[in-house]
Amino acid sequence: MVFNVCTIFPTLFENLFSKGVLSKGVERGLISVKAVDIREFAEDKYKKTDDYQYGGGVGLVMKVEPIYKALSSIAERGKVILLDPAGERFTQRVAERLTGCTALTFICGRYEGVDERVRMLADETVSVGDFILTGGEFAAMVIIDAVARLLPGVLGDSESLLEESFCSGLEHPHYTRPAEFMGLKVPNVLIEGKHAEIKRWRQLEALKRTVGYRAELFPAEKLEDADDDIKRALYLATRSVKGRRLKVAAVLMHYPMHDKQGDVVCSSITNMDLHDISRTAATFGVERFFVTTPLASQTAIAERVIDHWLKGRGAEYNSNRSAAFAKTELCSSLGEALLKTEEIWGEPPLIAATSAKEVGNISCKVLGDIAEKRPVIILFGTGWGFHPSVLDAADFVLEPVSGVGEFNHLSVRSAAALIFERMTRIY
Ligand SMILES: C[S@@+](CC[C@H](N)C(=O)[O-])C[C@H]1O[C@@H](n2cnc3c(N)ncnc32)[C@H](O)[C@@H]1O
Repeated sequence: MVFNVCTIFPTLFENLFSKGVLSKGVERGLISVKAVDIREFAEDKYKKTDDYQYGGGVGLVMKVEPIYKALSSIAERGKVILLDPAGERFTQRVAERLTGCTALTFICGRYEGVDERVRMLADETVSVGDFILTGGEFAAMVIIDAVARLLPGVLGDSESLLEESFCSGLEHPHYTRPAEFMGLKVPNVLIEGKHAEIKRWRQLEALKRTVGYRAELFPAEKLEDADDDIKRALYLATRSVKGRRLKVAAVLMHYPMHDKQGDVVCSSITNMDLHDISRTAATFGVERFFVTTPLASQTAIAERVIDHWLKGRGAEYNSNRSAAFAKTELCSSLGEALLKTEEIWGEPPLIAATSAKEVGNISCKVLGDIAEKRPVIILFGTGWGFHPSVLDAADFVLEPVSGVGEFNHLSVRSAAALIFERMTRIY
């Protein structure tokens, strides 16, 4: 494979493959690096490849024309990659994908980076990590090294490529002579030379190491090979932690709702919603769960249910349920719920409506981030959805809870549980 590098420092690449395993790849004609000096394509007599930024600000920017001409001078460009901190993160998977190219051509930025129009000249933009280098040359070297060693015939033993870190978790530890160094001994199993036992030891050590350092890379399909200690360690490293406490209240609205025909109606309060959303709200630390209806008859029924569990026979029978209902409150309107929420935190809440339709403008995660600092009230609807005036009054409409396929018809109880969980989750 040919690696072309457009750079203002071509000499950095002079000895890149002169040593080490990759030099064999060069000798065998499998890889080569060609540095193209961008400066040679600068148009003015000072060979300027950079200039001041439009709009002002410190730092110079690399000009687009010399880069365009440098690229045009390369006959076999293959895939053109701009090196940039904002690019796709370079990983072993990306390296594997790039081995499918006949040639790779890198554009190396310097200073504040390249003129934005250089992006149009590249097929891909790649970053080697969340840090800032002084120039793209170092990023190009990293990518060239990682891709070149994967090419057939470059490394002597291609078997070793299959057992490396990032193929399937991290690799097991290695030892060489001496058998003891400053009291640190090589594990006996490796010295005894029983192949099956060595294989088993290496498998387990690789899993332990993966759990210990990079639990997110643990290959789930290997879990059955793991002993109880590894399973427990993996569980502790990856389990869901308790959520964050937010300034959140919720309202279950029964008016103004649409019915199936699209008429504006007042829907009925259901016992299931009262119980389940009260329990969910208490579980996720929702400060107050308001149930609104303008109808006195509906209020009376709901009051009876709540009183039964707070003060009546239910409170004795199941005190846990009375704890769940402790923060449930009946209101005649959304306006009343908003005023009561303002009283709790001393400032008016931001209003987030919910909808099963794709009309959202905020995710649960971001609304959760906001609710760490500012009070938020979430509006849940009943019937066939809110009258548009409710959505108009909202500051945000939450993303719908999406499943995995076309069918999406959650009860308001289930949607509320998922939304509270997604908002309070620590991502
Ligand atoms: C000093 S950096 C410019 C950083 C730029 N001002 C920013 O804040 O994103 C100069 C050049 O180094 C290269 N570079 C820096 N960090 C990189 C990274 N993490 N991955 C790939 N290239 C990088 C890019 O080519 C970039 O144009």
